[in-house]
Amino acid sequence: MSDRVKEALNVFDLREMAKDRLPKWLFEYVDRGTEDEVALRNNRAAFERIKLKTQVLVDVSQRNQEITLFGKQHKMPLGISPTGPAGMLYYKGEIELARAAKAAGIPFTLATGSQTSMEEVARVVGGTLWFQLYMWSDVRMSHILVERAKNAGFEALVVTVDGPVDSHREYNIRNGYTVPFSYNRKNTSAVLAKPGWFFSVLMRYWMTTGMPRRENYPEGMKEKFTHVSSAERKTKNDTLAWNDLKVLRDMWPGKLLVKGILTPKDAQLAVAHGADGVIVSNHGGRNFDSSMAPIEALAPIVDAVGDRTTVIVDSGFRRGSDVVKALAIGAKLVMVGRSTLWGTTVGGEAGAARALQFYHEEISRTLAYLGCPSVADLTRDCLELVGASHTPAAM
Ligand SMILES: Cc1cc2nc3c(=O)[nH]c(=O)nc-3n(C[C@H](O)[C@H](O)[C@H](O)COP(=O)(O)O)c2cc1C
Repeated sequence: MSDRVKEALNVFDLREMAKDRLPKWLFEYVDRGTEDEVALRNNRAAFERIKLKTQVLVDVSQRNQEITLFGKQHKMPLGISPTGPAGMLYYKGEIELARAAKAAGIPFTLATGSQTSMEEVARVVGGTLWFQLYMWSDVRMSHILVERAKNAGFEALVVTVDGPVDSHREYNIRNGYTVPFSYNRKNTSAVLAKPGWFFSVLMRYWMTTGMPRRENYPEGMKEKFTHVSSAERKTKNDTLAWNDLKVLRDMWPGKLLVKGILTPKDAQLAVAHGADGVIVSNHGGRNFDSSMAPIEALAPIVDAVGDRTTVIVDSGFRRGSDVVKALAIGAKLVMVGRSTLWGTTVGGEAGAARALQFYHEEISRTLAYLGCPSVADLTRDCLELVGASHTPAAM
């Protein structure tokens, strides 16, 4: 592990280090939310409103955070959420991140828009691999990816449904960051200000495989980072409906997870259309600024479908205690996006592993304070208060 990575004491330190390393437009693309960033802030603030009850004089010397998910054992109740740009933060960042997940014994989700192909991640790394799917307007294009993910041995298909239209991230415009990328004075000077990133990531691609592309896109639609094509824009599909999920259910033999659910009604519909699990998520506060914090949306969803499906949650989890709160409410797994991206930026696999190590240690410490030897013992009795609108009694 590099000395830099070792200096970090929590995921917020990794964030500061990532900020030092990345051009401003790229750091902010990863870090920030949308519009006024209310959802982004509320994702964190919601955790502060939830307290945990301590229990003293319980022997907690043997603490266990292993879980069984979809019949498979995992070493901790954490998974890696799909994120597009890991390969832009570090050379072959998806491979590094997937390796860290495998070593930690947890699931890794590869995003549709990643810079490393699903076949390469499966061949080079393996482990518990899930594939995240965006649906193109031409759904047949997405179906090609489903077939590929099946052939590559991915265990779960994560269908993201919370982006019917583009979000409005004004800072991207101010930073001169456009998708697809085009050079301008602002973004180029930001790159020149970060030579470490420029030489170790961008130059390395140029000298090996060329400018990064979205390697999962079907042939003919793969684009360089700088290339414009209508295909990219078409990954936002405002015509999608529940029937499209039904079609995927018929095609996909593995576990089918629907990501971006925030209400009990949508969770029930997902189950009715064949989902094996729902991921309660507001995309890390990146899409809809008036969305609820997933940790506050979680209890009613668990109550509605928790006995029939696997409820997973992400968005804003930065501490082990945050993870424990979600498990106590009834989630079976918590996923993280930015924390492990910051780690990957700073130190590749070692950086991502450091982020996971923080969660592991903090979950373990929290269990000790709660007098809970195992994550399996967590219940809503451990919670002092959940949000403003959900009292423990109502849960
Ligand atoms: C830079 C970035 C890119 C993302 N790209 C995707 C994506 O391609 N598909 C997707 O379903 N979610 C994407 N997400 C959302 C994550 O899967 C996840 O929901 C979110 O990051 C969780 O919040 P957290 O970052 O606070 O942990 C992205 C998130 C970030 C930060």
